[in-house]
Amino acid sequence: MRGKFVVCAVLLAGCASESGPEHPEHEDEIRTLLGLPEHFELPAIPDYNPPTAAKIELGRRLFYERRLSANETQSCADCHEQSLAFADGLKTPTGSTGTVLVRNSMGLANVAYNNSYTWASNGLLTLEDQIKIPLLADNPVELGVTDGVRDEVLARFDDDPEYAQLFEAAYPEETAGATVNKVVFALASFCRTMISGGSPYDRFIAGDRDALDEQQRQGMALFNGERFECFHCHSGILLTNAYRDANVDDADVRLVFFNNGLYNVDGEGSYPEYDQGLFEQTQDPNHRGLFRPPSLRNIAETGPYMHDGSIATLREVVEHYAAGGRLIEDGPFAGDGRTSPLKSGLVRGFEATDEEIDAVVAFLESLSDPEFRTAPS
Ligand code: HEC
Ligand code: HEC
Repeated sequence: MRGKFVVCAVLLAGCASESGPEHPEHEDEIRTLLGLPEHFELPAIPDYNPPTAAKIELGRRLFYERRLSANETQSCADCHEQSLAFADGLKTPTGSTGTVLVRNSMGLANVAYNNSYTWASNGLLTLEDQIKIPLLADNPVELGVTDGVRDEVLARFDDDPEYAQLFEAAYPEETAGATVNKVVFALASFCRTMISGGSPYDRFIAGDRDALDEQQRQGMALFNGERFECFHCHSGILLTNAYRDANVDDADVRLVFFNNGLYNVDGEGSYPEYDQGLFEQTQDPNHRGLFRPPSLRNIAETGPYMHDGSIATLREVVEHYAAGGRLIEDGPFAGDGRTSPLKSGLVRGFEATDEEIDAVVAFLESLSDPEFRTAPS
């Protein structure tokens, strides 16, 4: 991503601070700043945080900066590694003070296009709102910049001449000094540059029929067919219904969450008590086990899978859907997810041969974009 940035900084020096989605004449500049391929729409970007080259550069530095955590041990990148499409390869990660989180670290490819953030939230609709959580939250602690230590952490950046200059360049019209909002807006701007559109699948939809081999094309047909049903929830350019771009008005955003039948601990559809998905926010019993369908881009790099990392491989994910849910025979979470009354009607199970399952896995692997994981950042 640094490679893209340097080019943009040269092209856009001086004019970028006026950029914003409300200025359509600047659309080309934003597309260049974010590194959008031609077949990607402009993402929806809040008016109050238009991207600029200087904000993106500051955000990039902060993303890799362990001094951004209260005890200086952890950065965003410790849980979001570029080589793993910004996931971390763990079932669930551990925060800076040792708390093991209950949810799997999400990959961040094309995160600018989510219509909601995290595995299950109807309240986090922008990157700006989401990023405050790993930064500031005290339960669970991630970076742990809680009220009591906030000024101390921000002072680290004011006291560092290089950072002071980066903050000044990113926010030339504001009073000097680091603030939580400046940090969050810069991180959000950087995350919007995590664009992945160079997979074999992208070349295929651009018209290069040979970009996918025969097995992958068969897998794509199964993925988009009425027996496997995947496309009903994983649709469109990013293979998720939870997508929006600049063409979608706020009023038309439709949040989507589904229960995949992973658990049924009480015969009534409950998930383990420590994480019942959307229910944690709404307390509506019908929302137990509801999670957002994630984008499947770079999915081969971001395992283990599902909100709690409880499925190890892509093959097992497809087998999970073929079984129509998960039977857990013993242990604390024993129960038959296949018979959950809260499971989506689209997860009903299907007959599939081993070859067909292999083909769907091969298709999912075609969604990986090696350049995204290795471009300088
Ligand atoms: C301790 C590990 C950890 C750290 C540190 C961390 N994250 Fe995360 N990140 C996660 C987990 C886990 C989730 C899923 C959270 C959930 O669903 O409640 C997540 C979710 C996200 C998402 C939402 C992605 C989506 O598709 O909805 C973004 C964006 C994000 N993190 C960015 C950041 C940034 C920026 C930082 C640094 C300020 C950061 N993260 C620090 C583990 C971490
Ligand atoms: C009813 C909607 C629905 C259908 C149909 C569906 N999915 Fe999903 N998918 C989801 C949701 C929701 C999640 C996250 C569930 C969770 O974590 O509890 C998910 C998660 C996944 C994941 C793991 C994502 C990650 O980042 O860990 C993969 C891979 C996946 N689905 C592939 C498929 C395939 C292949 C099919 C077809 C066989 C399919 N899905 C059908 C909704 C659906």
